[in-house]
Amino acid sequence: MAISARSLNKNCKFLIFGGGYSGKYLANEIRKLGCIALTSSRSKANNENSFFFDSFSNELPQENIFSGTTHIISCIPPTKRGEDPVLSRLEKKLEQLSLEWVGYLSTTGVYGNTDGNWVSEKDPVKPLQERSKRRRICELKWINANLPTQIFRLPGIYGPGRSTIESILKKNIKVINKKAQIFSRIHVSDIANSIIYLLNNKKKLDFHPIINIADNYPCSQVEVIKYSYELLRLKMPQPIEFKEAEKILSPIALSFWEENRKVSNNLLCNKLGYKLLHKDYKSGLKSCLESISNHNNDNYG
Ligand SMILES: NC(=O)c1ccc[n+]([C@@H]2O[C@H](COP(=O)([O-])OP(=O)(O)OC[C@H]3O[C@@H](n4cnc5c(N)ncnc54)[C@H](OP(=O)(O)O)[C@@H]3O)[C@@H](O)[C@H]2O)c1
Repeated sequence: MAISARSLNKNCKFLIFGGGYSGKYLANEIRKLGCIALTSSRSKANNENSFFFDSFSNELPQENIFSGTTHIISCIPPTKRGEDPVLSRLEKKLEQLSLEWVGYLSTTGVYGNTDGNWVSEKDPVKPLQERSKRRRICELKWINANLPTQIFRLPGIYGPGRSTIESILKKNIKVINKKAQIFSRIHVSDIANSIIYLLNNKKKLDFHPIINIADNYPCSQVEVIKYSYELLRLKMPQPIEFKEAEKILSPIALSFWEENRKVSNNLLCNKLGYKLLHKDYKSGLKSCLESISNHNNDNYG
């Protein structure tokens, strides 16, 4: 069975709800393959690749935005009341479009705390945080809508412009040590590339409604920060022990330390055959540093 890596039918039109970090990245990668990809924004920008959508506004996207749409991706988190911003306003509309495929970016937070053990799509969800409970409600709404939806559960997303390298350079980093604490992560290029891979090979691969996208190497945050300092040839400050850090962290920052799990990518990478662009944080961070150097060369070269 020949599995191809990167191409898409050029007649595809993607509407990407939530033109934030991942949404914009996905749109750019899809456009590189010759398809139309429009991203939503809550501000009215005069940009032919963007359209206005705010779930709290009465104004919905015009008919011409939906016309010819074959694929939808939602990158918008649940509202504070647990509503899905896209489905709460547009479920009926989307159901009328006879879409080929719908992708929903969710989070591995729905698995809750596993005390450092591996979790896969087969494990029951046990959301611990209120935001993860809201997320699970939205996952179920997408599953129950009459749409061909595939849910992607993501751990911490990093990539160019959003990594520990930038945090160090902006002096916006806390080095915290908590024994046996593990985090999973994914480089944004692997979110885009794996989705394109799955779409491109849709007919050859079994359909799985829920797929984790994570790299191969969950590890402590200190390990990642230490490597980032090494790449920058800077000296890492002495880590603060978690017991001390607890006193100064915001409630939202603290909540991330209450969960400890390793997210398995066995389904995506072994069963479905996707090859990660960045199998671990080292590869991903080197590429983040390169994109900073390239950007600086573009500006000053
Ligand atoms: N960041 C992470 O590490 C992480 C980890 C796991 C899962 N996730 C989830 O994965 C998805 C993508 O993450 P991301 O970090 O790329 O997201 P992001 O940069 O925060 O972008 C979120 C997007 O949602 C839009 N949005 C928010 N509320 C909205 C509303 N009520 N109506 C319309 N649009 C709304 C924002 O619009 P504007 O552009 O107008 O602001 C923005 O474009 C999100 O669901 C996120 O929760 C993120």
